[in-house]
This record gives sequence, structure tokens and C-alpha cells, in this order.
Amino acid sequence: ALVVRHRMRSSGRWATAMAIIKEFEEKCATPIGKLKQVADAMTVEMHAGLASEGGSKLKMLISYVDNLPTGNEKGLYYALDLGGTNFRVLRVQLGGKDGGIINQEFAELSIPSDLMIGTSEALFDYIAAELAKFVAQEGQDFQLPPGRQRELGFTFSFPVMQSSIDSGTLIRWTKGFSIDDAVGQDVVAELTRAVEKQGLDMRVSALVNDTVGTLAGGRYTNKDVVAAVILGTGTNAAYVERAHAIPKWHGLLPKSGEMVINMEWGNFRSSHIPLTEYDHSLDTESLNPGEQIFEKIISGMYLGEIVRRVLCRIAEEAFLFGDTVPPKLKVPFILRTPHMSAMHHDTSSDLKVVGSILKDILEISNTSLKARKVVVQLCNIVSTRGARLSAAGIFGLIKKLGRDTLKDGEKQRTVVALDGGLYEHYLEYSKCMENTLKELLGQEVSESVIIEHSNDGSGIGAALLAASHSQYLGVDES
Ligand code: GLC
Repeated sequence: ALVVRHRMRSSGRWATAMAIIKEFEEKCATPIGKLKQVADAMTVEMHAGLASEGGSKLKMLISYVDNLPTGNEKGLYYALDLGGTNFRVLRVQLGGKDGGIINQEFAELSIPSDLMIGTSEALFDYIAAELAKFVAQEGQDFQLPPGRQRELGFTFSFPVMQSSIDSGTLIRWTKGFSIDDAVGQDVVAELTRAVEKQGLDMRVSALVNDTVGTLAGGRYTNKDVVAAVILGTGTNAAYVERAHAIPKWHGLLPKSGEMVINMEWGNFRSSHIPLTEYDHSLDTESLNPGEQIFEKIISGMYLGEIVRRVLCRIAEEAFLFGDTVPPKLKVPFILRTPHMSAMHHDTSSDLKVVGSILKDILEISNTSLKARKVVVQLCNIVSTRGARLSAAGIFGLIKKLGRDTLKDGEKQRTVVALDGGLYEHYLEYSKCMENTLKELLGQEVSESVIIEHSNDGSGIGAALLAASHSQYLGVDES
């Protein structure tokens, strides 16, 4: 094989490289008609998931949040946000009616990777210890009335079957977490046990998904917020549903008549979604084969990995980086989405950034401009497919809300709160997503649909929900 490699002429190598890219690009195509089919399939699955438990790949989980923040929330609350590469702790002093957020502080820590695949006890012990340290630093700017227990909103960004606002069992892990003994356990009980072990007196008063937290945080600042979407390590959406449109809900009809639904759309899949051989192998080799297919082609955890896989193939078959495949290029997940984003945004004429990432991360030096261009092209193909499909998901959700057409010509504002590192930092991606959504909605309707970046809305949102579900009076009477 080595002999053949040496004999393969440079022009032959490029022709092979171009053929692989062309085929990949065609398989990733997302023409608008296809996106509309994806959106329609999404609404069909939403109905099915609401109709019965297990009725669809979309779990459409009941959040037990039937009231969103009003602005009257008052007091000192903590929040703990666990769900991606980082976890955050936060405290916020809420001022009640017209008071807003008086003070807030947070700390961010990364989760040691061994804890993501270890035991439930180890993970929760670590989190509780960090939380206890953070609580110990509470200063004069924060005030808890005497005799009160501290309360916490727990944002836990994985699929959870809730049985109340402050309890729920983990259905399964997603996004690189895999801790078997936690599955089926009540995550609030696990956290509470670890918190007590730290000697910390604190009650978990609300358990929320990050999408639900973001929806709550978004609503606090803008009353037109009706849905929230996360585009980060993983991806998901939550929205406000009419309670009587949830056949599987057998509880009391909430006074508000509404219920927030955590869609868990990361697990969506449809024959209309364009999948390639690279996606299939990524899925098969993942921690959760067959699951989270939508997530695996649109979210931050996977985009860089897809690019790496295609590059690897081009290196093998078209010798893109010389006669052998650079060893680092064979390492799964070595090329992260932030690297991909940095390369995609490289505007220098010699693609300097691309060159240095290839060198620093993949240890491939002296790359030609031609090779660097190939890398950028792949970043573009992979991010465009992801961004356009996420727009299709949002479009499906807007359709389900019945807000994809104008009611009697009157303009009803629809605000979607968006958060997540992918959306925030990968601008080519977010721009493409927003443009595609406009294209799907059409000029007129798109003017009344607003995507609003809700920066760390999920932490604040969880604290707000902890206030409205406090054992004390956490809200001013309106
Ligand atoms: C994954 C989780 C989901 C979360 C999303 C975004 O899809 O399963 O619960 O909302 O990531 O963090």
C-alpha cells in the first residue's frame, strides 16, 4: 500500500479529496423542503409524546412548572446548574415587586472527566462540597431572614421523570455522562444526601431542566417568552403548553391552565434528517448508541468530532496530510467544537488560525493553504447542517404553538429564549440558524418571532422557581 501511496500523484490526491467532500456535502444537504418535513415530523412527534407516556421518541416531560416568574419573587436563593462540561453555583438576592435582581454572584467549575463516568455518590459528593464552599463565602450583600433554611433551585440538564416540582428520577444520561447507579434514582434525594453530608442546611425546592430554567429566566425579563432552546454541549427545548392539550396528564388541572413541557428534543429522529456514514459510526461508538440522534448532529459536543471523522477519512484515502494519517487525528473527540468554530471564523488570507490549530491540537505541521481550505469547508458543511436543522426544530415548535401564521393580521410577539455555548460563541452557526428560521417562517411572520439570548438564564430561572416554590413566602402578593 505504501508503494501505491507514493505513486499517487498530487492531482490524484486532490481529486480523491474533492470527491469525498462533494459526496459528504451532498449527503448533508438540507434544502428548505426537507427542513419543512423535519419540522412537520417534529410537531407530529410532539403530539404523540403528549398523548401517552412512551408514545414517541420525544419524551415531552412534564416539568410541574405551571406558573412562570412574574417579577414578584423575593429573597435569597441559590441555584446549582449541572449538565454540561461545567457546573455552576449561584446565589441571587431577589427584590420582589419592582425590585428585580438586587445582587448575584456565581462560580463556575469544570466537572473532572472521571466523575462523569464514575459513581453517583462521587459525583454528588463533589458537587455538594463545591456548593458548601460557595455558601461559606456568602457576604453581607446577601440576606436571609433569621431562622430560615437556605433554598436551592437545582438545574439538572438530563431527562428526568418528575413526580413533583422537587423530585424526579433520572431516565438516562446524555452528553458524555454515564453513571449507571444514578439511573432510576431520585436526583434530589442524591443531592440532598450529599449536601447533608457536608453539614449544609439547605433544601432543594425546585428541580428543573436547563431549558425550563431558561424559559423561567427569560420570562422574568420578557413576558412574551413562550419557549426556550438550548444549543450547547447538548440541545433541547421547553415551552408552555395548554394543560388540556396534554392527554397523558392525569393530575389536577393547574389554575393557570398551563404546564411547561421539557421536550427532550435531542432524542428526536426522523427519516428526513440527513445522516451520513460518519454520523452512523459516531453514534455506534458513542456512550449512548441509537439515542440522541438529533443532538448528535446539531450540538456542540459532536460537531467537531464529525469534522474529525471526515478529515480522518480524507487523510487515509487522499493523503491530505502526507503519506500517513497523523496519529492525533485518530483520537476521538480531540477536535472540539470551539476549535472548529475558531477555524471556521478564520479570515486571514493564509488561514493562520487553521494552521495553528492543526499544529497545536492535531500535531500536523506545515499544512498547505489548500489543505487548510479543505478543513474550513468541512467546518462549514457540518455547522450549516446543524444550524439549519436546529432552525427546523424551532420552526416545528412554533408551528405547534400555532404561531407560524398571523392571527387576524394582528401581530402577536413570540419570543424564544436561547442559551448555550454553541449559540453564544459559534457565530457562523447562530447566524445560519437565525437566517434559516426567517426563511422557514417567511418575511411577515418572522418579524413577530424574536430569538433572545438569555445569558445564564437557566441558573437565575432555577433560583426564581425556588422562590416561587419556597416553603416560606417567596413572592410578594401582587
Ligand atoms: C441533553 C439533555 C437535556 C438538556 C440538553 C441541553 O439533551 O438530555 O436534558 O436540556 O442536553 O443541555
